[in-house]
Amino acid sequence: MALAAQTAELVCFNAKCRTRYAITDVLYNCTKCGGLLEAVYGSIDASDLKKVFRERRMSNDPLDASGVWRYRELFPFLDDYSCVTTLREGNTPLLDASATQQAATYAGLDRITFKHQGFNPTGSFKDNGMTCGVAQARRLGMRRVACVSTGNTSASMAAYAAAAGIEPLIFLPHGNISFGKLAQALEYGARTFEVDANFDQILALVRVLAERVGIYLLNSVNPFRIEGQKSIIFEMLEQRDWRAPEWIVLPGGNLGNTSAFGKALRELMALGLINKMPRLAVIQAAGASPFYEFVQHGGEFHAVEKPETLATAIRIGDPVSWPKALHEVRSSGGVVEQVNEQEIADAKAQIGRCGIGCEPASAATLAGLKKLTARGVVDHGADVVAVLTGNLLKDPDYIYRYHTGQLEAPGGVKIESTYGNRSVVVPNDADAIARVL
Ligand code: F0G
Repeated sequence: MALAAQTAELVCFNAKCRTRYAITDVLYNCTKCGGLLEAVYGSIDASDLKKVFRERRMSNDPLDASGVWRYRELFPFLDDYSCVTTLREGNTPLLDASATQQAATYAGLDRITFKHQGFNPTGSFKDNGMTCGVAQARRLGMRRVACVSTGNTSASMAAYAAAAGIEPLIFLPHGNISFGKLAQALEYGARTFEVDANFDQILALVRVLAERVGIYLLNSVNPFRIEGQKSIIFEMLEQRDWRAPEWIVLPGGNLGNTSAFGKALRELMALGLINKMPRLAVIQAAGASPFYEFVQHGGEFHAVEKPETLATAIRIGDPVSWPKALHEVRSSGGVVEQVNEQEIADAKAQIGRCGIGCEPASAATLAGLKKLTARGVVDHGADVVAVLTGNLLKDPDYIYRYHTGQLEAPGGVKIESTYGNRSVVVPNDADAIARVL
């Protein structure tokens, strides 16, 4: 399907530079100042969009059935859609009411809504961005794509590259990703390298390799990933009939998602599709919280050299997208909070008790909210959407250890199994089991 002519460019995010590049340039940073790049579009006609998006929910066209491409007018970087590979990503639910009451009460809120990105094809929000990143890779004629990952990006990239017939190359911090995520990369057929270094160090390595051997990089420094992740916000607002919440809460690692959410919200405001700007609350794990420290104390941005957290998805000390994330937190009147390992683990168990569940990094949202309501930053009656970024089954080892009192934080500190739930071994005997019951 061909598209109406539409200008799309890559523009340096640095306000003092704003150098423009063709949308098809293979670039991840500005060649003049080193700044991050973003996709910028000419005028978008938003007059009928709400109706068009709603009607597409009834359509079986693969593009319309995707919870990302359904909103394609809001990220018109392609000039035709033949290069799109979709696994029907997005389409993730808003969960609220009685299902989430226990979590709301835990966090000191009257109610809470979860936008659960763990319902995606590979179990995390990365799929929203990856379908766009892989479409751009195909458009550019790339044969190989690469990423470094704490696990979810790699699972997602492996799946989309496999489906698109492109070779995925994956680089992981050896021994520091969950088994479930590594298993996904292997099953989807990715060439997988485990490197004895942390995420930040491997990202530097992969950037050198990408340049040297001509592989297309699909980390969130890739602006097309960010474009796709904007659809999490589009879908959330459409599901709420375009009523903006007061707060949107999300975990912060490399800060790509924070950048995407802020960009999406600003663009929706500019187009008149929403009339109130929600505030972003970004939650980091205390052992990997350079962005929290920076926003709290100002001065220079300092990376955390040895980031540590059991929430391995957000074990990142030098987040590449911090300049964008800073802009988005400030322009939304947002906040940044940090939470410790016990707080994450207990919040996670509470989300589990709702019958919902999520992976550890996602639970940082509820843990952070508990602190923010206690401090009076978030009002108990506020309309809050917390984004659960990954599926419960991504990290079963963590869950088992928590519930059986074997979970240890980095440094050997024991995590209390506050809401633990152990299985009971019983004989194959109805009388014996009846006595236990
Ligand atoms: N939650 C989950 C489950 C994640 O996998 C990640 C990032 C984040 C939150 C943080 O998002 O980086 O946009 O701030 N995972 C990346 C990966 C780094 O490699 O899968 P962010």
